[in-house]
Amino acid sequence: MVEGNSKYAVKNLFNVEGWVAVVTGGGTGIGLMIAQAFANNGARVYITGRRADALQTAAKTWGANLLHPQGKIIPVTADITDKASIQNLAVEISKHEKQVDVLVNNAGIDGDNSTVEKGDESVSALQRELWKEDVSMWEDVYRTNVIGYFFTTVAFLPLLSATSFRTGHSGSVINISSISGITRTSQHHMAYNSSKAAVIQLNRLLAQELRRPGVKVRVNSIAPGIFPSEMTTEGSNEQNKSTIPVDEEYGKKKGIPAGRSGGEEDMAQAALLLACNQYIYGETLTVDGGYLLEHP
Ligand SMILES: NC(=O)c1ccc[n+]([C@@H]2O[C@H](COP(=O)([O-])OP(=O)(O)OC[C@H]3O[C@@H](n4cnc5c(N)ncnc54)[C@H](OP(=O)(O)O)[C@@H]3O)[C@@H](O)[C@H]2O)c1
Repeated sequence: MVEGNSKYAVKNLFNVEGWVAVVTGGGTGIGLMIAQAFANNGARVYITGRRADALQTAAKTWGANLLHPQGKIIPVTADITDKASIQNLAVEISKHEKQVDVLVNNAGIDGDNSTVEKGDESVSALQRELWKEDVSMWEDVYRTNVIGYFFTTVAFLPLLSATSFRTGHSGSVINISSISGITRTSQHHMAYNSSKAAVIQLNRLLAQELRRPGVKVRVNSIAPGIFPSEMTTEGSNEQNKSTIPVDEEYGKKKGIPAGRSGGEEDMAQAALLLACNQYIYGETLTVDGGYLLEHP
């Protein structure tokens, strides 16, 4: 009887002890939240990014006093727009690990903004504004947010698949997309929003391809609403953390029923769910405080 009940303990339902996680862009913002979620529960977490100093700061600050003795935060520099760099990352990690339990494709950039409301004035005003956007800006956004996710997943396939064949759970990929890839408003950044919609479709395609018996890797996505990060604020503090000031009007101004921006626990719970639940395939989980209900 007791055994029948013990599986329901939260520590068994969300047990990542001894797991290996790789979080791209794990030194700041959402990636750091997810890295802390896994590391504090006993996983060895490799965080990657282009800035070695930002990764070192994250590892030193947040890896030193983890709740679980087996947890670790390990910095490794890598650029996900560069195939050779992605390959080096996978090779480097494979020297230390026989498997990767979860890959979080999180590193992303947002590109430039345009004032889309110019169409209320005239067609020429709108055309002038949108024509100013750089082709290279669009390419950079897609190279990081879409192409980078694709090749990083491919590079880690053997290590992810090894989890499924060596342990009682499946290796899985979590792609960080966005509510920006779902809402019909451009939020003033067409390139970013369309790249995030592409991530959601890439998520479906990879989920379909990687579920095959020779691979057995689950693929899911989290579509965050507004979370504090270097992308959404002025930057980050000496602990790599960012803050969004929230007053009583915040929820109304932003159209967020929860009345606040996303918190670290909100993101941690979503990532642990998709990593641990063995029955979720090909989903995009929106974690947005109700933002999409007001901005469908
Ligand atoms: N914060 C939000 O409200 C929100 C909402 C929805 C979705 N998202 C998504 O969440 C993800 C994380 O963003 P964030 O908001 O947490 O912003 P962030 O703090 O700016 O984090 C982005 C991270 O990605 C890394 N990165 C960027 N380009 C890279 C590259 N080419 N190679 C390797 N690493 C790279 C950055 O480090 P380096 O500069 O050192 O490389 C940085 O640590 C992104 O995909 C973003 O689109 C964010």
